[in-house]
Amino acid sequence: MSKKVRTAVFPVAGLGTRFLPATKAMPKEMLTVVDRPLIQYAVDEAREAGIEHFVFVTGRNKGVIEDHFDRQFELETTLKERGKTKALEELQADLPIAGQASFTRQQEPLGLGHAVWCARDIVGNEPFALLLPDMLIKATPGALKQMMKAYHQNSGNIIAVEEVDPNDVSSYGIVGRGAGEDEAFKIDQMVEKPTIKDAPSNLIISGRYILQPEIFELLGSHIKGAGGEIQITDAMQKLLKTQDFTGVKFDGKTFDCGSKIGFLTANVAYALDRDDIKGDFMSELLNILSAKK
Ligand code: UTP
Repeated sequence: MSKKVRTAVFPVAGLGTRFLPATKAMPKEMLTVVDRPLIQYAVDEAREAGIEHFVFVTGRNKGVIEDHFDRQFELETTLKERGKTKALEELQADLPIAGQASFTRQQEPLGLGHAVWCARDIVGNEPFALLLPDMLIKATPGALKQMMKAYHQNSGNIIAVEEVDPNDVSSYGIVGRGAGEDEAFKIDQMVEKPTIKDAPSNLIISGRYILQPEIFELLGSHIKGAGGEIQITDAMQKLLKTQDFTGVKFDGKTFDCGSKIGFLTANVAYALDRDDIKGDFMSELLNILSAKK
């Protein structure tokens, strides 16, 4: 039987250079889609999938993420005094239970693989989930919950994948597809940011992983890959020699909120799904679009 996945790692130490100047003093992961920060969506998705411990790999300028997952007594008292009970309850429901969150620092942004390696002592010798908060996935049930189903059936390592326009493969980690169905197929290779010519498919790694702890040893060699960064994809490609990787083409859509277009379209898609604002938002959008014609 596969060992339970209890812990999720959220790397939030990147510089967010594609989103400057917004990310000069504010973490990219605190950018909001409608009224929730990206990191909150990722934590909600992990909690829905049964995760019990949330590990944040932070860096300089990221203290606000730690504050976001803490209580704010002055705000809570004011909401209470003003009778805003619903807002208060929602705020409290967003928080991890005391002791369920850990924070560690990646002192230098040496790449995603290095950020994950920084979590090794907190995670320990157990399988863990990895969620990149800037890859926002709109899915019901959430992408990680869909992956858990594949994990219980296949064990090993699980990766969420999604098809993209072949012209976009050079921006992502790409997998090669072996035997199996969309819900669970064998991955036979992985490559980070390939050229179109070298890409084994147009299936991108969508920022959700379930990984076995042996990945930490491989990440510990600190070998640099694409862009001069320590890449998780390179370590996974090595682990593929001794362990199985299963791809899950989940039911849902990814918004790459590290890019401006992904972030803006995510706001439109999420706003149009919100009962409290969708009517007004739709008419404002239509006004803007018809004025542009
Ligand atoms: P990205 O490569 O999208 O983030 O990493 P980035 O480097 O911050 O963004 P750009 O390319 O400069 O705009 C995906 C996730 O990994 C984290 C980021 O914070 C993001 O959540 N990350 C990346 C780290 O924690 N450490 C790193 O060294 C790099």
